Amino acid sequence: MIEKLDKIKRNFHAETKKVSTINDIEQLKIKYLGRKGIINDLMKIIPTLPSEQRSLFGQQINLLKTDVTNIIEEAHKRFHSESSSKVKKELFDITLPGKHPFIGKKHPLTQTIDDIKDVFARLGFDVAYGPEVELEYYNFEALNIPTDHPSRTDFDTFYIKNDVLLRSQTSTVQIREMEKKKPPIRIIAPGRVYRPDTVDARHSFMFHQVEGLLVDEGVSFADLKGVLNQFIKTYFGQDVQMRFRPSFFPFTEPSAEVDISCSICGRKGCSVCSYSGWVEILGAGMVDPNVFKAVHYDVEKYSGFAFGMGVERITMLKYCIDDIRLFYENDIRFLSQF
Ligand code: DAH
Repeated sequence: MIEKLDKIKRNFHAETKKVSTINDIEQLKIKYLGRKGIINDLMKIIPTLPSEQRSLFGQQINLLKTDVTNIIEEAHKRFHSESSSKVKKELFDITLPGKHPFIGKKHPLTQTIDDIKDVFARLGFDVAYGPEVELEYYNFEALNIPTDHPSRTDFDTFYIKNDVLLRSQTSTVQIREMEKKKPPIRIIAPGRVYRPDTVDARHSFMFHQVEGLLVDEGVSFADLKGVLNQFIKTYFGQDVQMRFRPSFFPFTEPSAEVDISCSICGRKGCSVCSYSGWVEILGAGMVDPNVFKAVHYDVEKYSGFAFGMGVERITMLKYCIDDIRLFYENDIRFLSQF
């Protein structure tokens, strides 16, 4: 009988070496430890044995049963830990495409201001800034804007108190710079301006301008044309044409409004250019002697030109944007296109 037990033991060990799936282990368990399994069958033999052999045989079967149970449990555990680490490995799939971190961008208006700064930097212009809360003197008086000028009323300017206001134009920076420095002066001044306009597709109570000022001995209108032509061709493209129309600003004489050929329709006529083929992009002119007098510059010795442009307007023309409000709504679907 003992030999029979040894044989069963050897068979069991041989069979454990062949298991490769959890199902094989289950089958082995049923075969040996099941109700109709090999070990139970052996138990049934005990009562048939001579009484002196029963206890030894019983002990041997119990040893075999413990052995088999332990080995099967071990196999179970090993199998579970192997398959779970396999699952873990599979969760980390190196062939998956990586996650793109969200990269922020500059606001389109900031981009335009940067582009304008770049063009003028190459022409030797420095960048100057002035306060948005400004004295009436810098916004009007020093710029030769008479006391009864309509732009001075609170229909056109936000007043904070008597002589303090939110600047309505960046031309204020012309005066502040000329007060600080002697010619030659070559600056551009980007910044926010404020006007009590009703908001619609083309108007906003706050928008951005870039002012330009060049003062030196012997500066002429031809210099103004040359600089603006250079800017327009670089910013809008070599094919874009420029034209000057006579105009009036209190701080320049003569004054002009500058148009460019409509970059949307190529001068064929469209709703952006009101079917004229041209769109106005800035005001400009030769600095009025009264402005020089306000900053105590010698009007016999110096001359200069100035210009001012709307940043929103230029950006709208360049990228075919038809509503100014899009710039201020912070809608990521709009902003991410630039
Ligand atoms: N300040 C003017 C405005 O806001 C724009 C302007 C026109 C600026 C002519 C200038 C200039 O420097 O010479 O409408």
